[in-house]
Amino acid sequence: MRAFTPGSGPIRPAILDLKPNGIAAVAALALGEPDVIALWFGETDLVTPAFIRDAAKQALDEGRTFYTNARGIAPLREAIRDFHRRTVGADIALERITVPGAAMLAVILALQSVVESGDNIVAVSPVWPNIFQAANICGADVRFARLDDDWNASAPRWNLDLEKLFAACDARTKAIFIASPGNPTGWIMSRDEQRAVLDFARKRGIAIISDEVYGTLTFDGSAHAPSFLQIAEPDDAVFVINSFSKPWAMTGWRIGWLVHPARLETPMWMMSAANNTGATTFAQWGALAALSPQGDAFRVEMLERCRNGRDVVRKFLGSQNRIRWIEPEGAFYGFLHVEGMKDSLGFASDLVRNARVGVAPGSAFAPPEDTRTDSFIRICFAQDPGRLEVGLERLGKAVAGI
Ligand SMILES: Cc1ncc(COP(=O)(O)O)c(C=O)c1O
Repeated sequence: MRAFTPGSGPIRPAILDLKPNGIAAVAALALGEPDVIALWFGETDLVTPAFIRDAAKQALDEGRTFYTNARGIAPLREAIRDFHRRTVGADIALERITVPGAAMLAVILALQSVVESGDNIVAVSPVWPNIFQAANICGADVRFARLDDDWNASAPRWNLDLEKLFAACDARTKAIFIASPGNPTGWIMSRDEQRAVLDFARKRGIAIISDEVYGTLTFDGSAHAPSFLQIAEPDDAVFVINSFSKPWAMTGWRIGWLVHPARLETPMWMMSAANNTGATTFAQWGALAALSPQGDAFRVEMLERCRNGRDVVRKFLGSQNRIRWIEPEGAFYGFLHVEGMKDSLGFASDLVRNARVGVAPGSAFAPPEDTRTDSFIRICFAQDPGRLEVGLERLGKAVAGI
């Protein structure tokens, strides 16, 4: 029980207990300082392409500055339906598609749909901290089912232990959260694993929140990582989260979407209205342009940038004997294991202060008791290769000094 604090009044302890997560804490030391090579956030250094910006400008010039339907404008929801057809071959009815604002808000709507105070969710970890902080804000506890890092395999890999995941669920578990491709690991869940989790979730009456915001950023040549949309029935308690942020370089636009059970059509409309009264109108018109053939071509360019970034990191690691990784299968992060580093937050803080390179501490992606993750740092490699090389060189020198 949290001690009573005079003056705290009715504020919930879960809210009073919120602290900056490790990524925010490190970034606060030097955010926006021009000599810092910032690899800490999940975003490319590319500006949103001009054809998307132009579509939003045109919407503004045409006076599209009013409220829209809180589930999103019809042409955008139709274009999202078509996107799912061409990337995962799934026919998603429009009643299941809602554009509430950013993917982060979509995660919150999914959580609000299933958790009440005292419930829990089980998250496959390491996992982006905003997710578990959002669950706490919604009143849920978070349990973690950590991916095993298997360094002895011929090619080291992240491995999901399904028994461990299922054992973490109890009578108060309302949702299993999985991001695939994962942030920070780049791990991709297999179709068989998805089927096993769906079977388990159906039997136990647990929802699945499948975060697929990196779904099209895969390195094996496929159009999309395996998606729960390909195996779930329209009324399964499955929520699939998606975003314009990553494939189209639109992080600052705050727009994404949610595919939800068909029976939630009206509740989602009202929840989107209650949380944000819908997404920003001109951002929706920009997002519509992202789903055009030109937007598909840009996604190919973005994937190429990620592939090049991955090659730069791979080459750098070839010259290092204390830094290693499990090569990511998707997304745009290197989750780097640094031998001899035990305090990733301290290391990342010193690194930005002294070497002027910004990385995310591994501890941010796990609960405090998971000390193994504290030997990792995360970098985003969707960057200009020259800048990335300089950042890595600085990192290499700092690690040599530990
Ligand atoms: C796994 C995951 N889900 C959701 C998001 C949030 O996307 P958005 O910018 O649309 O809120 C991120 C952003 O880093 C992410 O890594």
